[in-house]
Amino acid sequence: MKVTKAEIVISAVAEHQYPVDNLPEIVLLGRSNVGKSSFVNTLIERRGLARTSSQPGKTQTMNFYRINDLFHFVDMPGYGYAKVSKTEREKWGKMIEKYLRQRENVALIFQLMDARHEPSEDDRLMHEWLSYYGLTPVIIGTKADKISRTNQKKSINQMAKKLDLRDTREIIFFSTETKAGKEEAWNRIESVLE
Ligand code: GTP
Ligand code: MG
Repeated sequence: MKVTKAEIVISAVAEHQYPVDNLPEIVLLGRSNVGKSSFVNTLIERRGLARTSSQPGKTQTMNFYRINDLFHFVDMPGYGYAKVSKTEREKWGKMIEKYLRQRENVALIFQLMDARHEPSEDDRLMHEWLSYYGLTPVIIGTKADKISRTNQKKSINQMAKKLDLRDTREIIFFSTETKAGKEEAWNRIESVLE
């Protein structure tokens, strides 16, 4: 998809702030610092639209971006970041859970995991929770430029095993540096927008 228009709609912390224009929503989930905001920027080819940082805990609100007046990206705060206070983490957790369970606009969920490491317990639990509620996500293995091709293959198998996936094709390896996986991610988005 050629992106000709990309704008922030709102940084929401509560339900009454969600956009009311009823566009389909593509949601980014994953641990802090895994690369959710960078993923959005790479897909839409706008360097700084979603704010990124080398420090985990950058995104602290649910950020809705309207793309081509056709759909929203919803960039979420990361889960599992210890330096954010427990109360804060619980607040984000509840906000995200509530959104996922109630929002009818959810068209697709990308769950991002660092391609270099085995999925964490948080990743596994989130994946299980999503699948239980019929919200089975597409898995994105991020920072793929940081591992060799041989290790990518190993890592994909390890992820599939840990998450109990039937098919390794459910995993897309992605890199903001090489743009690997960009086209495939767009294909998934386009297929739910049809
Ligand atoms: P929170 O908002 O804290 O939840 O983090 P996030 O998941 O939005 O991560 P963000 O996009 O801010 O990226 C975190 C760091 O990882 C930044 O320094 C990015 O430049 C880096 N990063 C993200 N994706 C990639 C990638 O594909 N390759 C490399 N080498 N670095 C990446
Ligand atoms: Mg972020």
